[in-house]
Amino acid sequence: MNMRINGKEYSSDQEARLLLVDFIRDVAKLTGTHIGCDTSNCGACTVMVDGKTVKSCTMFAVEAEGTDILTVEGISKEGESLHPLQESFWKNNALQCGYCTPGMLMSALFLLERNHHPTTDEIKSGIAGNICRCTGYFPIIRSIKEASEKLYPLDHDRTAGLM
Ligand code: FES
Ligand code: FES
Repeated sequence: MNMRINGKEYSSDQEARLLLVDFIRDVAKLTGTHIGCDTSNCGACTVMVDGKTVKSCTMFAVEAEGTDILTVEGISKEGESLHPLQESFWKNNALQCGYCTPGMLMSALFLLERNHHPTTDEIKSGIAGNICRCTGYFPIIRSIKEASEKLYPLDHDRTAGLM
């Protein structure tokens, strides 16, 4: 199996039944992607495959042959210690145990790439596939809103038009 994860090539002989999440965690040793349920319910295993979010417990690694995968370890740009979304989650205490956080961040990133200024309802729907069992969703939603403002500041004319 051959795939690129966070810009690095990985090549390994594995059984066809190996799940993508297990390839990421056990072969690539990128343990930021979590396994919460293994049944496609919790979203802790969310990564991007060729730019689209996927619950990596629902995909065989062999199906990801030749793809570009992005995991939470790869979201900050070179020279940045934290991505603005991570910074915002940290600032707003949007995590408690942190188990859901990598998947939450990947879903939020996917949402913001497509919708730079989502409404609260759009954020709720963007993270609908991710379950947080301890923090509650208000700080998570606030963090995604704040990160959107930092990542995609409204230009002056648009801001003026809103006043
Ligand atoms: S571990 Fe994949 S959705 Fe829960
Ligand atoms: S912070 Fe614990 S599950 Fe979300």
